[in-house]
Amino acid sequence: MSTGYPDLDALLPRLEAIPTLSTADLESESVAILGRKGGVLTLALKSVATLPIEQRKQYGAEVNRLKARFEEALTARREALELERRRREQAGVDLTMPGRRRWVGAEHPVTKVIDEVVEIFRGIGFTVAVGPEVETEWYNFLALNFPPNHPAMDMHDTLYVDAPAVEGEPGGRLLLRTHTSPVQIRAMQAAPPPVRVVIPGMSYRNDAFDASHSPAFTQIEGLAVDEGISFVDLKATLIHFAHRFFKPTTKTRFRPSFFPFTEPSAEMDVECQLCGGSGCSACKGTGWMEILGCGMVHPAVLENCNLDSERYTGWAFGMGPHRIAMLRYGIPDIRLLLEGDMRFLGMISGKS
Ligand code: PHE
Repeated sequence: MSTGYPDLDALLPRLEAIPTLSTADLESESVAILGRKGGVLTLALKSVATLPIEQRKQYGAEVNRLKARFEEALTARREALELERRRREQAGVDLTMPGRRRWVGAEHPVTKVIDEVVEIFRGIGFTVAVGPEVETEWYNFLALNFPPNHPAMDMHDTLYVDAPAVEGEPGGRLLLRTHTSPVQIRAMQAAPPPVRVVIPGMSYRNDAFDASHSPAFTQIEGLAVDEGISFVDLKATLIHFAHRFFKPTTKTRFRPSFFPFTEPSAEMDVECQLCGGSGCSACKGTGWMEILGCGMVHPAVLENCNLDSERYTGWAFGMGPHRIAMLRYGIPDIRLLLEGDMRFLGMISGKS
């Protein structure tokens, strides 16, 4: 509805906008239009006196009419906002309360380590295999060339399951697997060579729960079996892994070791990731950190899987992602990785 005066018409869009204004904008708009000193309509009214006498009456009347419309709109909006405020108050919504930050989940540091290790091996032709956490004595020990009555099979180290043994099988007693190595046997039974698998999963031992031990922990097993596989393949692959997982310049070393299911056996160390090899409390001053056990698959293990050990050879490794996460992030106590304390996990999950 035009007022017939361009300067007054220019205010009409602002009149129409009033029902959409917030409380704060409403008050500043009120001052801008009707304020005693600088209000646009206040000034317009004052200017009436300066107009030629014949124009004063009509212009003055239009200004006053528009002023009334603004006052009406402002009052209506004030009332509407007040009503809304009261309704929210009754519903228990307090708009002045500070917002809550939305909770964002993140990968557990151990999951991150497992995913990265798997990804590196996937890149060189390995696939992922899994196996049961409740195993028989045969898969966990005997097929892996542990002699019967090996001390590791004692109650002291192994958690046996209180359930009837698997009948008709030597070593049919059930237990919680003490390592992921039994899945080596399952992988070799599942398909003929070439076998190239990595096997992530939980393992269990009758250990104390202290800063460096846990009765439940993760392992990643690796197994490659084919014709013509040698110790060179083992070393080259594991060094490639260390360079991808840590740094391209990370130094590695192999030390002789013993496992019943590999011969020869070795332990692989990498340069301490915390001190860079100069020696610190984390590496007990040696400059090295042990990351995995490995070796050439023992011929007896191949034969236990009905593979001809004259034709096939292989190598295997086993590492502990919990331990590797501790080395990588400088975590002093394994329990921090198992207790699920969100303050700790939130702190560590930002690091790469
Ligand atoms: N299973 C061994 C352990 O738990 C690690 C290992 C796996 C060693 C494969 C050699 C080859 O300590």
